[in-house]
Amino acid sequence: MIKKIGVLTSGGDSPGMNAAIRAVVRSALFHDIEVMGIRDGYKGLINDDMVAMSHASVSDISAKGGTILGSARLDAFKTLETQKQAVAILRRRGIDALIVIGGDGTYKGAQKLSELGMKCIGIPSTIDNDIPSTDFTIGFDTALNTIIENIDKLRDTSSSHHRCSVIEVMGNKCADLALYSGISCGAEVIITPHDPYDEADVLRKIQYFEKTKKKRHAIVIVTEKITNVHELAQKISVTSGFSGRATILGHIQRGGAPSAADRMMATKLGDHALAALLAHQDHHCVGVIDNQVQTMSLNEALALTRDNYKQLIELHERIV
Ligand code: F6P
Repeated sequence: MIKKIGVLTSGGDSPGMNAAIRAVVRSALFHDIEVMGIRDGYKGLINDDMVAMSHASVSDISAKGGTILGSARLDAFKTLETQKQAVAILRRRGIDALIVIGGDGTYKGAQKLSELGMKCIGIPSTIDNDIPSTDFTIGFDTALNTIIENIDKLRDTSSSHHRCSVIEVMGNKCADLALYSGISCGAEVIITPHDPYDEADVLRKIQYFEKTKKKRHAIVIVTEKITNVHELAQKISVTSGFSGRATILGHIQRGGAPSAADRMMATKLGDHALAALLAHQDHHCVGVIDNQVQTMSLNEALALTRDNYKQLIELHERIV
């Protein structure tokens, strides 16, 4: 029987993490389960840095961006020794199960703890949307809206000056932020990790939109870690009639109050994580597929890949 759980947020923070923490804590207390909030993700776990959570400790947090528990990235958590240390700390504290809120790195940590016998449930929360066991991760919708708001602003100034805006968005190795924002904002070119990067082809496309399509301005969205956007903007200035300008949206994409959609999904998934534990679905993660809350084993989830890129890329090609 589960009497006490731990909850942590790990990896890059995302808007909606707080709503998920709130739902986990309130749902656990509803089921007479104690909750320990672990500070700063796996780093706090191995430092035994935790605090008892009450109904009041999660009041008024749903509307706040970031995570009240703090987050961290901990490379050392990849070693077996550190993982064993974490399990020993959880057992010493009388914690029967751990709920982890984060992205794929967070899930991998939970998978390792599961292999050592600790019950773990994952809740998908990252702006990257790089967890294929759910249609959307908590925070993706808010980050996407932040990106769109900024691109719309850039379009105003870019079209006034006959410029080409090259905008770098986050996503790590996941194309979703670039594809969804690019399609939503009518970007002329979207560069993602799913197509081999071909600079000459990008420059050719920009010339085509300027000369043949007579565009007054152009927008190029680039997923981070692919190319230097400042250099690309300069080359656009040299090879086309547009003046190229680069903007890196950076961490602004991760902040801000979560959207209603993210708050709602976070609340449903936080509550469902408890339901999964009570149903003995240990070593699982929760997600939303086709509008239905679902659970899946962590092993199965981590082996999945997303397969909708081709459809989105083809959609962009048809409507650009
Ligand atoms: O995982 C979320 C994310 O924002 C990625 O999109 C990005 O690559 C990374 O985190 C940045 O991490 P950090 O804030 O540690 O520099």
